[in-house]
Amino acid sequence: MQDKAVDDWIEALLRQMTPEEKAGQLVQLFEFEAGDPDIAAEVAAGRVGSILFVRDPAEIQRLQRIAIEQTRLGIPLLFALDVIHGLRTIFPVPIAMAASWDMQAIEAGQAIAASEARTIGLHWTFAPMVDIARDPRWGRMIEGAGEDPFLGSAVAAAQVRGFQGAALGTPGRIIAGPKHFAGYGAALGGRDYDEAEISESELRNVYFPPFKAALQAGAANVMCAYMALNGVPATGNRWLLRDVLKDEWGFTGFTVSDANSAYDLCEHNFARDPLDAGTRALNAGLDMEMSLLVKYSAFRHLPQALANGDITEADLNEAVRRVLTAKCRMGLFSNPYADLATCDVTLADPAHRDAARDAAERSFVLLRNEGDLLPLDRDTLASLAVIGPLADSARDTLGPWVFDHDLDETVTVLEGIRNKVGEHIRVDHAPGVSMIARQNPSFFDSLPGLEPAARVEVDDDAEIRRAVEQAKSADCTVLVLGEAQNMIGEAASRSSLDLPGRQQELLEAVIATGKPVALLLMSARPIDLKGAAPGAIVNIWYPGSQGGAAVANALFGEAVPGGKLPFNWPRSVGQVPLPYARMKSHRPDERNVRYWNEEGSPLYPFGFGLSYSKFEYSNLRTARPVIMLGETVDVEVDLANTGRYVAAEVAQLYIHQRHGSAVRPVRELKGFRRVVLKPGETRTIAFELRAEDLSYWSSASRGWVQDETIIDVYVGTDSAARLVTSFEVRSPEDQ
Ligand code: GLC
Repeated sequence: MQDKAVDDWIEALLRQMTPEEKAGQLVQLFEFEAGDPDIAAEVAAGRVGSILFVRDPAEIQRLQRIAIEQTRLGIPLLFALDVIHGLRTIFPVPIAMAASWDMQAIEAGQAIAASEARTIGLHWTFAPMVDIARDPRWGRMIEGAGEDPFLGSAVAAAQVRGFQGAALGTPGRIIAGPKHFAGYGAALGGRDYDEAEISESELRNVYFPPFKAALQAGAANVMCAYMALNGVPATGNRWLLRDVLKDEWGFTGFTVSDANSAYDLCEHNFARDPLDAGTRALNAGLDMEMSLLVKYSAFRHLPQALANGDITEADLNEAVRRVLTAKCRMGLFSNPYADLATCDVTLADPAHRDAARDAAERSFVLLRNEGDLLPLDRDTLASLAVIGPLADSARDTLGPWVFDHDLDETVTVLEGIRNKVGEHIRVDHAPGVSMIARQNPSFFDSLPGLEPAARVEVDDDAEIRRAVEQAKSADCTVLVLGEAQNMIGEAASRSSLDLPGRQQELLEAVIATGKPVALLLMSARPIDLKGAAPGAIVNIWYPGSQGGAAVANALFGEAVPGGKLPFNWPRSVGQVPLPYARMKSHRPDERNVRYWNEEGSPLYPFGFGLSYSKFEYSNLRTARPVIMLGETVDVEVDLANTGRYVAAEVAQLYIHQRHGSAVRPVRELKGFRRVVLKPGETRTIAFELRAEDLSYWSSASRGWVQDETIIDVYVGTDSAARLVTSFEVRSPEDQ
């Protein structure tokens, strides 16, 4: 339907609706157990507009039929789920995909996730999570794209394109819902849900850009955050939801709360009671509430709020209009049911598995490779020891936020290696140590279908001895260590970056054998290895359904790691937060004496990642030495593959301005190009710096500015790049 026809049709529907039916469209309920009679009753009564957490296509169909056939107006339901990194085919976790710096791979992966979701009858995902995270104690960094707004914006847009396609309603695609608006990643102390105090310049220069990029890519939904932002809970924060999102940015989609966060405005001691909570959330710009249970619905009080004159009919209608427009554009009024006959074909598509394996291969970050220990040589290697509590854990290999996965199909690291080497190489395995349980289990662990992996429980002393013997008798040891998947993610912050349990002891004991050791880190935050230095370290994240196959390809050189860190890797948790984009200070050269007890620099810088091949940058130049305010400048650099492998490199461009209305970070990422080069190949890489790349929101002038200044441009393999050139920015009045 054309826009005008859609609008007219929705207005006609709105005019028929009672206040109770309007409020019903703004309530979203969880259904944790299929067949829940309370949910069916609420749907039949016209008090629900959307359901989340249903993954059974038949149950989706059943509830949809109730909404259409048993309610007065027959308005269909929106079905939603956290399809964060896949539905049945599980891709690497989002921060791993960010580490690939490969926007095509990211978009393709989310398009596959969308196709699997849509085929079972889902219409909407609560993704991408675009929260900038600069504190690795915060567990939800796993769900985002790390610490940088430029990379985060590119990843956000790629994910939205993947989920939603070119336009809302594209067949086989679903509504993208960037979250959590806004500033959730800046939780005090990295403690999930704790308050965030963020200056407007930090919000506008760091935390907002990925949301704007997601909206510019067409995202039709935004989820607000749980926490209080500068003292006002995001769910009831009018400045965030109306002034910035809807008025300043012109967002025409619909907003949704986080789970119970409207009702929980009472918990924040912000709202007096659920009626007040619903009133203030709607007035602040919340369009739909996500409610854990009917009794926690704040929006069911909206008819009363309307009768009391505390909300206007216009505001109520505007929220309903936004929700109905999404349903209409998704085609739900004309085609509300999925074709269940095609589900299994789509979910079992082998091309999806291949894409997940390829994505995992692109995400691996090679942190250390002394003496070119990797890749392993299958022709000369006779034995391998694959050790660690995560080496054969299918559930942990998938990472958190997975609901419809197939553990039997999941390839663990051990299985991937054994499948690749067959009988050629003896492969021994030992867990080495137990994977301990979280000290404080999270409520996620109790949700049906989300149970954590069965824990490895062994006699650690005996197991460490056994593992050491295996390492001694093998040509090489592959150690798979890290955090269990329920030790990171929501409600999974940590006050430490250490390896949980006695894994550090195992690592040091295996290294002490003096035999070659390749450590594979299964984690999504920087881990403090206490100085332990195995020959090789590869960050494999949580690599998904085909993770073990991807790891085996990388270990034996059929895939060459080319991932780059989307965050600074601190030396210890005491340095945190340690973003790379920090201000220069008046003592920049003493940066490393900021702490008298250890270096102030990161162990590995943002953008860092080695390759099996070697790369060299040269001949960095700008097209012009001087530009005028508002103009674009072209930058080029020559990149050579001087190694022995066809390999990917991510050339990164950073800027720093030498003076201006406010101080700016010593380095800011403003461009990157992922290129694959053959050995001996040299290519000229081109970038362009536009006025918007050189502008920032200044707390000096409380607005967006571009300064007359001198810009230093650094290009290289990570944020510590030394190759530099510069250009001047002048005002036309200066001529
Ligand atoms: C959770 C998360 C949010 C998720 C929602 C539904 O608490 O904060 O990211 O989309 O609830 O699962």
